[in-house]
Amino acid sequence: MTRKTSAPKNAAALIARRTDFSAALLGWYRLNARRLPWRETPSLYKTVTSEFMLQQTQVKTVLPYFARWHATLPDFAALAAASEAQVLKLWEGLGYYSRARNLHRLAKAVAARPEPPRTAEEWQELPGVGPYTAAAITSISFGAPAACVDGNVVRILARLTADGTEYRDSATAAKAFTPLADALVPAGAAGEHNQAMMELGATVCFRQNPLCLMCPVRGVCVAATRGEPEAFPKLAPKQIEQISVTRVWCERDGALLLHRAAMDARRLANQHELPTAEHIGLTEATAAKGVLLAKKKRGITRYRITESIYTAAAPKGKIGGELVWVPLKELGPITLSGPHRRWITEIAARE
Ligand code: ADE
Repeated sequence: MTRKTSAPKNAAALIARRTDFSAALLGWYRLNARRLPWRETPSLYKTVTSEFMLQQTQVKTVLPYFARWHATLPDFAALAAASEAQVLKLWEGLGYYSRARNLHRLAKAVAARPEPPRTAEEWQELPGVGPYTAAAITSISFGAPAACVDGNVVRILARLTADGTEYRDSATAAKAFTPLADALVPAGAAGEHNQAMMELGATVCFRQNPLCLMCPVRGVCVAATRGEPEAFPKLAPKQIEQISVTRVWCERDGALLLHRAAMDARRLANQHELPTAEHIGLTEATAAKGVLLAKKKRGITRYRITESIYTAAAPKGKIGGELVWVPLKELGPITLSGPHRRWITEIAARE
């Protein structure tokens, strides 16, 4: 059920104090911003690549990828000219691989133009660019007055206003908070403001145990004043879905059987994984008669996935298509998806 509470009144009160809010936020950011490679000597290319890598991924995970990426592909032209295999290899382990493929397509589109686009609307026409990324790119690179609104910013704004509306999900909440977020963007400092909001969300306004005593804007925060910051935002609990996957470990003469997704597969194009039971023609029940080598749990968005890896005999007859034998010693240059390299290394080390 959606319940309307005092959000509009508190939002208006916050907007009325936006000059004080901005002064406190930007003053804090200028003194406390983390030194990050895309902030040191910013460029449009660094902003775009960092924003793609930072979608759904934390700064500390992105840092080594960002460094390797820029050492190998220093500008849009280099990225546009790279092969998809090289791009995916550089992205290996960051997850959500459609980001890498979209970034590659985006670079080709940008490199083919005389000038890169400058407005959020034009950026949103490029692959992989939604409202958040378009606002980040255009505010940081061109000073466009658009707010970035993601889960972190929603949390900050919901606390500042003690907004008691119960949102169905974070996308609905982001939409609802966009007008307030836009109203708080100060003229002439949009990029810095957006990064300051991200910084506040990442280093002070934590989901749990927020550091209100260190917060530069606690004076205008209704939830902090009431002493109940963690009560906001009010999101409906996520519907978690459990999925189980049965995988097989087929080893023969020092080589491991892997499944390579087709080049045009949406999620995993050209990436390798341990095959599922089905890939080698077994039912899950038959595969589960093998020796259980590992049981791995992971979460992707709202899915809780349990993957069980069993030993299995090599499939009979000629294998082909999407199944390939790869010598265990030659796994280095192969692009493996998600945590498969970790699992394979762990299992091979035990043998
Ligand atoms: N998350 C998304 N964009 C970011 C940026 N530019 N700096 C830090 N964290 C971010």
